[in-house]
Amino acid sequence: MLTPNRHLLQIEGMHPPEIAALLDLAESYVLLNRSGKTGRDLLRGRTLINLFFEDSTRTRTSFELAGKRLGADVINMAVAQSSVNKGETLLDTAATLNAMNCDLLVVRHGQSGAPALLAQKVEASVINAGDGTHEHPTQALLDALTIRRRRGRLEGLVVAICGDVLHSRVARSNIHLLLALGSRVHLIGPPTLIPTDVARLGVTVFHDMKAGLAGADIVMMLRLQKERMTGGLVPSAREFFRFWGLDAEKLAYARPDALVMHPGPMNRGVEIASDVADDPIRSLIKEQVEMGVAVRMAVLDVLSRRAKRND
Ligand code: NCD
Repeated sequence: MLTPNRHLLQIEGMHPPEIAALLDLAESYVLLNRSGKTGRDLLRGRTLINLFFEDSTRTRTSFELAGKRLGADVINMAVAQSSVNKGETLLDTAATLNAMNCDLLVVRHGQSGAPALLAQKVEASVINAGDGTHEHPTQALLDALTIRRRRGRLEGLVVAICGDVLHSRVARSNIHLLLALGSRVHLIGPPTLIPTDVARLGVTVFHDMKAGLAGADIVMMLRLQKERMTGGLVPSAREFFRFWGLDAEKLAYARPDALVMHPGPMNRGVEIASDVADDPIRSLIKEQVEMGVAVRMAVLDVLSRRAKRND
């Protein structure tokens, strides 16, 4: 039923039953976490290494917490202080990690495909925690779990993904997952920030918030990723907010019970207004963070049972 792959590198290509099974398992971890129990001894004696070549607060902490709740020894490799900065290549790093008999390797890297390359070179199960503009699979899983818990399903829902889609690995993973589970996806943003060939995936593209938000059950906002932009793709932050930023006025274009999401970190006043982000009824942003830990526990659980050392 679940994917036989011992790595989690991308959502693209995963089958709907594999995704649903992961969400079901994550659901049981939500209940366990809420009950205050410290978890199980599932990963006792296993080593999880967080290898983050890009900054992260919530994703790294979330994996750390998930690993610890399952009893793993968790090591956070601070890349800034590691030999990577002394010129070591990614593959030399892989060889070093291999020699340490690490079981689970959580990788974030600025280059698309870096976790897949590492996966070919290490014995450990590799989990992609975000690679360039490619994918961020656990983010899409936690988003799906958040939506499913609130709406009871994903099938038939209209999910609007808005803003800087071009640079967003979160958007790419979400598009694959939502389409696989039967949601309809609206992408909304200026033409400069929407990938040109994306409509072939089966999404509908809008260059206007009013048209794109019509009928939306979920409004997912994305951060304007300035660090990945090479040219002047957007005017000023103020101008961006005027056309593409989510405030109460634009949210009114969506369904009256539409819910708001954002993967974080948020640029308040750029892609989202504070009153919408902090709305206790409409905003799911805090819940997304809580679901992140449960989803990562489910992923670590499933992959560790398939790890090479267990074969
Ligand atoms: C996202 C990422 O790193 O891709 N953040 C996250 O994991 N919560 C989105 C972003 O950086 O904007």
